[in-house]
Amino acid sequence: MADAYILGIESSCDETAAAVVRSGEKIVSNVVFSQIATHQRFGGVVPELASREHLRAIVPVVRKALADAEQTYQSVDALAVTQGPGLAGALLVGISYAKALAFALEKPLIAVNHLEGHIHAVLLEERQKGNRELNFPVLALVVSGGHTHLYLARQQGEAWSYQIVGHTRDDAAGEAFDKVAKLLGLGYPGGPVIDKLSAHGNPAAVDFPPSQIKHRDRKEAGQPPPESPRFDFSYSGIKTAVLRYVETHDMQSTIAHRRAALTNSRQPKLDEVLALCDAQTLDLVASFQRAMVEDLIGKTLAAAAAYDVATLFVTGGVAANNELRQRFEEKAAAQGLPVFFPSRPLSTDNAAMIAAAAYPKFLARDFAPMDFSAEAGMALK
Ligand code: KG4
Ligand code: ZN
Repeated sequence: MADAYILGIESSCDETAAAVVRSGEKIVSNVVFSQIATHQRFGGVVPELASREHLRAIVPVVRKALADAEQTYQSVDALAVTQGPGLAGALLVGISYAKALAFALEKPLIAVNHLEGHIHAVLLEERQKGNRELNFPVLALVVSGGHTHLYLARQQGEAWSYQIVGHTRDDAAGEAFDKVAKLLGLGYPGGPVIDKLSAHGNPAAVDFPPSQIKHRDRKEAGQPPPESPRFDFSYSGIKTAVLRYVETHDMQSTIAHRRAALTNSRQPKLDEVLALCDAQTLDLVASFQRAMVEDLIGKTLAAAAAYDVATLFVTGGVAANNELRQRFEEKAAAQGLPVFFPSRPLSTDNAAMIAAAAYPKFLARDFAPMDFSAEAGMALK
């Protein structure tokens, strides 16, 4: 089979991205235009602004991805675009543009689930490193601003299928990082700043009890264990616990001071943020991160044992977290499990992962009909 060059387009949230990937195994170009600067002062993604920014960025971003790859609109073999899940208006920008291009160029168009993209970010980079040996079953933790999902991933021939074995009942893990950062006056997005600050605090200072989740099937005492046990997450409780800690420890005035100081600084340096944090704040941040990391790892490893998996993937924006990566590797190794992460640039949203996930569909000629549309709540199967 000749090499296939797929142009991927991603616009599900606040990154406008385009990339060219060769045969699902080599990133030829990868362009990500982040809208963080636009949303920062609102402390989160504003959907209307996201759509408008995507509209502004999509054409230059795609052009740059083609130019960087030394490809043209005519030379690529197929186009791939994120269909969902994500913000409907944001998704529609990428989809409309990809459809128009595919129609005008008479090229096949492949619709990709964003979560499948995150899983394929791992596969793409492993293939790129020459690692083609993968032991199944694979358990993938997709952990980002919108998702905390556990999937068993299987491959049959070229086709991939996914079984969900757990997901968050309320907030996603990245959302908890973002909300805690916001309430502590640390700006947006929260993950990267909490990641950096945590190294300067004591992770054992504040005790956050692990989230308790009632699984319906476990309540029925005396029943045989379910065939498909669930490993769900819940992160709204820890956010409330941080808020309560702030209130009972009178931290509001230092938070207000920090928030005001950081609003005037577009992309604050770590030293600048550190200078605005006392030991109590750093301890709180480090303890919050430790609790998040322990919960994510604990549930994932419990699911890995229950489903007797051979390989772990951890992917999505939160997979960029230093402590998560380090402790996951240690704890998975203790269970004899190899764990794979994407590189940091491929952990957060990008289009290379979309072009990579499209490749098996390209081989199977699984093309999108021209009337397909955005699916904001799209499930992965
Ligand atoms: O995958 P992503 O780019 O977008 C979504 O699909 O949501 O993930 C963004 C999320 C944000 O919540 C951000 O705070 C979090 O990933 N994040 C991190 C880190 N870098 C990004 N969370 C923890 N530690 C990090 N280093
Ligand atoms: Zn994502």
